[in-house]
Amino acid sequence: MAGQIVILLGPPGAGKGTQARMLEERHGLVQLSTGDMLRAAVKAGTPAGLAAKAVMEAGGLVSDEIVLAILQERMAQPDVAKGAILDGFPRTAVQAAALDQLLAGIGGRVGAAISLDVDDAAMVQRVAGRYTCAGCGEGWHDSFKQPEKAGTCDKCGGTEFTRRADDNETTVRGRLDAYHAQTAPLIAHYDALGLLSRVDAMQDIAAVARDLERIVAETTAGA
Ligand code: AP5
Ligand code: MG
Repeated sequence: MAGQIVILLGPPGAGKGTQARMLEERHGLVQLSTGDMLRAAVKAGTPAGLAAKAVMEAGGLVSDEIVLAILQERMAQPDVAKGAILDGFPRTAVQAAALDQLLAGIGGRVGAAISLDVDDAAMVQRVAGRYTCAGCGEGWHDSFKQPEKAGTCDKCGGTEFTRRADDNETTVRGRLDAYHAQTAPLIAHYDALGLLSRVDAMQDIAAVARDLERIVAETTAGA
């Protein structure tokens, strides 16, 4: 594979999806969100989706086995060869090891792992105020990212929006706990490999995007 693999690490609400979509537009890297893939599987009622549904609604992590199967299938598609931003994957040490193995098999490697650093306390508000355009998938927020015209998506003109089933205060707290217990240790893992960068993701969306832009440009230049 010719492209870079960039990992975005961060708890719920850190801005992984928001920033991955912006990087996708600017760098042609493909956003691979395991959360989006799992939500699509739940909606389609596949066996993986049926198994994942209750775990996601409770704010826990879906089994490595299910997540790896879904990611592996997606990574086999040709568009990923130009490079990808992993949004919400890996989330456990097992997933990180499996990613290395998967990439070794296709001649790829992780170019950068970027931790979006935030305060937990602010994340409940970010997640609870979030909604998504049903037409194009663009993410919006009641306070932090409003469309120009209320009720109409700037991107596609759509007027239907959805809110995620797991975006309530109790579930967000569970997701934050899962992040600290199982995913945050990956920050030290990628640091030890010399692949880690950290970004202050308490800044506004544009400032975070500028910091990420610089890191991704350096990674791509060094590839
Ligand atoms: P997933 O969909 O990955 O959810 P998450 O990690 O909890 O993260 P979020 O999508 O909630 O937040 P985000 O960081 O993308 O923030 P966003 O950009 O939307 O996973 C969902 C579930 O699936 C998991 O709980 C788990 O069960 C399962 N799962 C997924 N992957 C898995 C895996 N690998 N292994 C096991 N299980 C897995 O931003 C949030 C809001 O804030 C938006 O409205 C945005 O507009 C706003 N915002 C963004 N940045 C800023 C900023 N800088 N300032 C102000 N507002 C901002
Ligand atoms: Mg997300």
